[in-house]
Amino acid sequence: MKKISLEEVKKNPQVLQCIAESDKSLDVLGYTEHGIRHVSLVAERAARISDALGFDGEVRNRAEIASFCHDMGNFMGRTQHHYWGALLFHQIFSETMDAHDCMKIVQAIANHDKEEMKFTNPEAALVVIADKSDVHRSRVRTQSIEETRKDIHDRVNYATTFSDLVYDKEADTIRLILSIDTEFVPIMEYFEIFTERMTYCRKAALYLGKSFGITINNIAML
Ligand SMILES: [Fe+2]
Ligand SMILES: [Fe+2]
Repeated sequence: MKKISLEEVKKNPQVLQCIAESDKSLDVLGYTEHGIRHVSLVAERAARISDALGFDGEVRNRAEIASFCHDMGNFMGRTQHHYWGALLFHQIFSETMDAHDCMKIVQAIANHDKEEMKFTNPEAALVVIADKSDVHRSRVRTQSIEETRKDIHDRVNYATTFSDLVYDKEADTIRLILSIDTEFVPIMEYFEIFTERMTYCRKAALYLGKSFGITINNIAML
């Protein structure tokens, strides 16, 4: 049983196939992008916040692997995708990966959505805050502006031209920084659909011992 790096996970053909199939299924169902772009960004954010908060390399490694794999169960069903993803991860890696690492990652994947979101380790909280903060124009798949305007998720994602997640050491706050084109959507629409997601981010930040803040168009909303 050995330590497995994110780079090795990124080359695993089964993982890559699960991510590709999941993204395809969600496209058919009308969801925004959940493919390599999304999971790579979540892994990068989770690793960056882990480092900024001073977690060791083991936590960082598990958080970024769980982040990369968190949505790979979507092709088996959206509602329970966090469970499917966790079980798939276990099937793919349980024979080769250090058992402690494997279980922590399985737990973080299973915990990343809805009622299961109960934090018992920092890896899970890092995945959630990195995942739920991903709103950006590049997630929109519609072919035309007219089509984009029809759906509130597409509208809000499309209007978000810049998005970053940072740790503000002075304020001891994990902060989501967004630029939203308010000519395209009123900021209220952002909160209309993302209040729940922001609540998840706040809970994750609290578990990590930090506050959660949002800055939109250079104005601190929280
Ligand atoms: Fe998910
Ligand atoms: Fe996700």
